[in-house]
Amino acid sequence: MSRQEYIGVFDSGYGGLTILKEILQELPGYHYIYLGDNARAPYGARSFETVYQYTIEAVRKLFELRCRLVILACNTASAKALRTIQQVDLPTIDPEKRVLGVIRPSIEALSAYSTNGHIGILATRGTVASKSYPMEINKLYGEGRYHITQLSCPMWVPLVENNELTGEGAKYFVQKYLDELFLSDPAIDTIVLACTHYPLLKPLISSMVPEYVKIVGQGHIVADRLKDYLVRHPELEKYLAREACVDYYTTDKVELFNDMGSIFMEQEIDCRYVQIC
Ligand code: DGL
Repeated sequence: MSRQEYIGVFDSGYGGLTILKEILQELPGYHYIYLGDNARAPYGARSFETVYQYTIEAVRKLFELRCRLVILACNTASAKALRTIQQVDLPTIDPEKRVLGVIRPSIEALSAYSTNGHIGILATRGTVASKSYPMEINKLYGEGRYHITQLSCPMWVPLVENNELTGEGAKYFVQKYLDELFLSDPAIDTIVLACTHYPLLKPLISSMVPEYVKIVGQGHIVADRLKDYLVRHPELEKYLAREACVDYYTTDKVELFNDMGSIFMEQEIDCRYVQIC
């Protein structure tokens, strides 16, 4: 038995780095491959077919790069492509490989946060339109257990992509969507940041909501669940290289990814270009 396979982390662009960062804190010992499909990002407003097509291409590339397990860190890809990949593609590509998403772990963690059951889900247009969050929440907890309000915040991804996290523009658009959310349901006590980019706006969001409102990012939840998954799946874990490193790949400009990626990771990174289609 040789430990020489990797854990892939996929996102449409930089956003999945917020998930990778927390995975590295929890599980620093493995060898990770991060792939950002920056050339075709954002995925947020694209059709089901397009997001599925892009995502399966990325997953195939990560398998080629020797990943045994791939985390779809992107909510939009998890919402629109994960199920088909798990049920239709994996059995034919390689039934030994695994692809996991970020939605189910986030939903399983919900009960630790909300006391009154009023939840706000902030996400891309695509994730909201897929209704994946309300459907999965109702499936897991039963219809009516949670009162769910979804809202897409299309201006937040461009703000984060341009490192506009605290200025007047950021304040305006964060306040605008929070006002809309609380207008729909003033009783919300928990907000799920169901998009990879939104955690970078968390300090601003926190400063604009009442103190009792919990703001839930996904990174630590996904990291915890991955740790648990690897313990429960020794038949997969035994193949994973323990080299404590990350190889970064982008489908677009390397220099730009290094600049932006360093902001997300709060450390210098050095990525490589890869073509996936
Ligand atoms: N990664 C996406 C998500 O979490 C946000 C960026 C995009 O729209 O591609 O939904």
